Amino acid sequence: MTKYLLYMVQMHLTFRRAELESLADLYNIKINLDSYDEQSPFLILDLENDKQAQNLVKRSILCKAIYEYWGEGENYDKLHENIQNGDGYEGRKLNCKSNTFKFEFESFGGNHKKTMKDKINTINQFAYLELDGEIDLKNAQDTYTLIETYDLINSHETSKMASHIYFGRLIQRSDRSAMDVFDLKKRPYKGTTSFESELSLVSCNIAQVKPGTIMYDPFAGTGSFLVAGGYYGALVMGSDIDGRMIRGKGASYDITENFKYYKMEQQFLDVMTMDFTHNSLRSNLIIDTILCDPPYGIRESIKVLGARDPTKFEGKEDIEINGEKAFLRKDYIPTKKPYSLDSLLDDILQFASERLPINGRLAFWMPTANDENVETIIPLHENLELKYDCVQEFNKWSRRLLVYINRGDEFNGPENHGTKRSTTNFRDRYFTNFN
Ligand SMILES: C[S@@+](CC[C@H](N)C(=O)[O-])C[C@H]1O[C@@H](n2cnc3c(N)ncnc32)[C@H](O)[C@@H]1O
Repeated sequence: MTKYLLYMVQMHLTFRRAELESLADLYNIKINLDSYDEQSPFLILDLENDKQAQNLVKRSILCKAIYEYWGEGENYDKLHENIQNGDGYEGRKLNCKSNTFKFEFESFGGNHKKTMKDKINTINQFAYLELDGEIDLKNAQDTYTLIETYDLINSHETSKMASHIYFGRLIQRSDRSAMDVFDLKKRPYKGTTSFESELSLVSCNIAQVKPGTIMYDPFAGTGSFLVAGGYYGALVMGSDIDGRMIRGKGASYDITENFKYYKMEQQFLDVMTMDFTHNSLRSNLIIDTILCDPPYGIRESIKVLGARDPTKFEGKEDIEINGEKAFLRKDYIPTKKPYSLDSLLDDILQFASERLPINGRLAFWMPTANDENVETIIPLHENLELKYDCVQEFNKWSRRLLVYINRGDEFNGPENHGTKRSTTNFRDRYFTNFN
């Protein structure tokens, strides 16, 4: 086993751990998180080899990078001593004799840029490594990285001197640059419901969306999760009750256009206009992952196909216009009736339990108000293991990414379908500012 230093972002903390565990599981990597600390962006991990370290981090959004761990200290003297006394130091040093190299400087806790002179002085302190290889700033074989951490002195100031320093050899940078690629600002087709890129990508990682599998978003809207899923190599399909979302805004602004823009057309199966509660996907179609952001009922209340008072429509199926059944005409607008978020979430869980393969994941976002001493009741299904409940806090409300694994009929887990979980109407509360 070799020690590696994982450098993570210090945000979305519940998502961070879930993403790390999910990626480790996806690549069959055993990691021990006993020393994982939510308050720290650093974690030292024992892994079998560099390949494992690469796999763990290459598609991560909430990690920054992983390094072969060489040492640490509360000042430079202690750091150098620690490096030279480290297990395997002599073996690691051998590469320094021949490999091309460069140094990188990172800081955590404030923006502490070093001058070139400071950098050269710091690098010169590493003469004991006998770095005889050429310096190569573009394609170095080894990138040695110093990460200095600075403490907060008060709410707006950090210490001038680093309080801790880590040193390691870069193994793999994470994929945070994908956040810019999928930034909504640059996306051709988007709308008010589009989901921001960072947490769309993280959601895919936690849902373990993988190449060659089928991912389905039943509330596709403008397709934010579909493009994220396509990026991870899944074949994606979606549906939405609102045909306007599916049709987009003219020929050059629709979900297909986004896939062209990202050069991922081959990942896109299709989208269709469909009420999720009247799902027409054939029942033996294997869906490997379901990832969605169901309607919260904020912009408009939740509606599904049907009539509030079905008796009003009795016998009307036979109405014809110009010899064509009215309900088969293109301009037919079906009636809709209100539906509760509780029932919709029950339906999603039931659908996932029927359609996902064993160990397949369902991940969806759910809003909760957090200004009351009211327990948030998470929807549960007897076949689905609730694996993660990751919370993104806003001022007066929060939203959660709930992630379930289908364990099948034998699982017999706790369930609460059919129960009223939300005590108050989230939409009303949202518009009255949760007072
Ligand atoms: C929160 S938005 C999802 C937005 C989407 N993630 C995106 O990137 O734009 C919820 C979507 O669910 C759709 N919807 C509402 N009720 C539905 C139903 N019964 N069946 C299918 N879609 C529904 C809405 O039209 C809306 O587009």
